[in-house]
Amino acid sequence: DKGNHRHFMAKEIYEQPETIGHTLSHYVDMGTERVAIREALPFNFADLSRLTISACGTAYLAGAVAKYWFERYARLPVDIDVASEFRYREPPLEKNGLSLFISQSGETADTLAALRYCASQGQHVAALVNTLESTIARESDVVFPILCGPEIGVASTKALTAQLTALASLAIAAGRARGVLSAEQETDMVQALIGLPTAVSAALGTEDQIMEIAKRLSKAKDVLYLGRGPMFPIAMEGALKLKEISYIHAEGYAAGELKHGPIALVDEAMPVIVVAPSDELVDKTLSNMQEVAARGGKIILITDAQGAETVGQGVADVILIPHVSSFVAPILATIPVQLLAYHTAVFMGTDVDQPRNLAKSVTVE
Ligand code: M6R
Repeated sequence: DKGNHRHFMAKEIYEQPETIGHTLSHYVDMGTERVAIREALPFNFADLSRLTISACGTAYLAGAVAKYWFERYARLPVDIDVASEFRYREPPLEKNGLSLFISQSGETADTLAALRYCASQGQHVAALVNTLESTIARESDVVFPILCGPEIGVASTKALTAQLTALASLAIAAGRARGVLSAEQETDMVQALIGLPTAVSAALGTEDQIMEIAKRLSKAKDVLYLGRGPMFPIAMEGALKLKEISYIHAEGYAAGELKHGPIALVDEAMPVIVVAPSDELVDKTLSNMQEVAARGGKIILITDAQGAETVGQGVADVILIPHVSSFVAPILATIPVQLLAYHTAVFMGTDVDQPRNLAKSVTVE
């Protein structure tokens, strides 16, 4: 049932304040404002040598954000790869490593094959899934649920923000166990997570502005998305969503790589979407943005009020989202890139929920 929405994708985008809250209530003790992992862990975070993440598509991008979190807040080394590459590379794996497989459906063929490889190599095997009865869940030593309810639209939206919410909680748990995070830091981070549903509702309020921008985006042939740090995977997610449902060619790039190639593409016809809420790196990303502006590129900047203050000339549009801590900012920044892709596809008149050539669950390699 789509409720009042035209598409399941819109319904699922709009459900996110609620689904994020639901995920959080599983991972967080709201009374003590501490993370409380309910699953019995067959390993100890403190003893892990490495975390190896494999996944596909949007689930891979959730893992790519989580790499920043686990490395920064738990000082746990992380390797991440798309499952279709990982499985055939057969990489050597360290003793006492944890392998994590992220999959909404729990049935993705390449992710399952990567899991079987890791299990055969004696790794601890954990799954982060939406479907608890799935094959990936069944074959794992521990299953972390994302609890966002069934996702019908082929383009993954609420599953991503639920995956990120669960991963953020797990990174805090790891940070505590490894002696990196103090109780005070943990409480600050948990409070930031608890504030997300409200911030996401506010970010959904950018929809009218985004519809106007999407009208123009629907005329583009190519779109470039830029981000730095944990915003880099969000830039890639923006590009993936746009390609998937509007069939417009898009690329997500690390902002710092711009001058190593893609800047040659910049002209007035190619919109450049910069995902840069204020954080430690925002100045660097904004200076990359000025390089685009100086070449006549049309910039659409996703940022918060602090980020917008420092923006100079040449920005066509600023999409303002609430200011949140840099820890949870990637979760919030997902909202405008979802809305941009959705409304662009609606203008193009594509089959948003069932885009051509794609299946919800990719059970063949
Ligand atoms: O069910 P999974 O999470 O394993 O699916 C992985 C990808 O196929 C999936 O995220 C795909 O990239 C989405 N259509 C993206 O919107």
